[in-house]
Amino acid sequence: MSKIVSGFSKMTKQEKIDWLTDHFFKEPIVAKEILQQYWNDNRVLQELHDDFIENTLSNFYLPFGVAPNFLINGKDYTIPMAIEESSVVAAASMVGKFWHSRGGFKTQILSTQKTGQIHFFYKGDPKGLQFYFDKMKPQLFRATEPITKNMRKRGGGITAMELIDKTAQLDNYYQIHVSFETKDSMGANFINTCLEAIAAAFERPDIEVVMSILSNYVPECLVRAEVNCPVEDLYAENAQEYAERFVRAVQIAKAEPYRAVTHNKGIMNGVDAVVIASGNDFRAVEAGVHAFAARNGQYTSLSNAEIIDGVFRFWIDIPLALGTVGGLTKLHPLAKLSLELLQNPNSEELMQIVAAAGLAQNFAAVRALTTTGIQKGHMKLHLTNIIKQLDATQEEKDFLIKYFENRTVSHNMVIEKYNEIRYKL
Ligand code: MEV
Repeated sequence: MSKIVSGFSKMTKQEKIDWLTDHFFKEPIVAKEILQQYWNDNRVLQELHDDFIENTLSNFYLPFGVAPNFLINGKDYTIPMAIEESSVVAAASMVGKFWHSRGGFKTQILSTQKTGQIHFFYKGDPKGLQFYFDKMKPQLFRATEPITKNMRKRGGGITAMELIDKTAQLDNYYQIHVSFETKDSMGANFINTCLEAIAAAFERPDIEVVMSILSNYVPECLVRAEVNCPVEDLYAENAQEYAERFVRAVQIAKAEPYRAVTHNKGIMNGVDAVVIASGNDFRAVEAGVHAFAARNGQYTSLSNAEIIDGVFRFWIDIPLALGTVGGLTKLHPLAKLSLELLQNPNSEELMQIVAAAGLAQNFAAVRALTTTGIQKGHMKLHLTNIIKQLDATQEEKDFLIKYFENRTVSHNMVIEKYNEIRYKL
């Protein structure tokens, strides 16, 4: 049976499902049931989701949880998190509470500039090009005026436009590098529309515009989150030794890319979960954050730690292009709810909350790694997840939880033990 189809997008949802299940599944009925189980019975809500993308067949749920007790710049937050990985929300909640009684998170916006570029090829005299650009610049701004009108009213718009000679990197390659302030919107559509208008006004026969697009690299849309406290408040016992080990762990992530990637992955556990819950684009955030982590030519830790005069200080500088208007933020009911839960922050406040969530996650991971190790906490939840998949009685479940209390958990070992007790209990 051919697995190639034409006119797929024109089929009804049911026709798409029928074609798919008939062609790819051994048990089409079971596949259909699964797809249907994840439909929302609320027709309006389902249609809303259907329209987010093309060829929607069902929904793919992520757990939505919250981490309470976050104190950020003196204000209390309960942070919404959409994430499938066990331990992340538990760790955030633990760390939120921990720092709440130690002054909480202090955050600040360092910058809010975003960038877009018009990439073009030009074979003529560079001086002539510069002359043309300088002459055209007022016209280029004018070309965007209808687009930037509302944004300018809100205090945003285009803040700078420069011609950049990139011919040392690639023959005949130039760009117009445009800086934007997009206030509470993430700004992707706004930036791209402006760029296309500028490109159209700039183009002439000897200028070949290749593309006009925003950059997800946003090193000038930067937020800092910090926690600090006297070293002796950090651990119940051996505080100095553990605090120093914590700092050394961060130094290792600064020096060693293999560790830095995992270290930063822990940060992104917190960042992405809030970015997704608030309806923002986590792929854009991920791409920008990792490029920033490698900005000096070697991938390194996003967070920093030090002990000075008996005070432990732990902080992160992270680029985050986020919106609290536009995109999915008001369209997705759970994103809207998340923003309300966060007391309807503007984008700068959301950047600070997300940075705090990332730092919290990093604190939890590094603290666990440099003390008990992370497997203990992870495995407790892992065990619960494995047990849930078994057809175990309550008595069998209780036995397994007790049995693995102080033992290493692996999927195989749990299954083996389960099979063993099934016939013995
Ligand atoms: C797991 O999702 C994240 C950690 O590996 C982060 C880290 O190692 O710092 C625990």
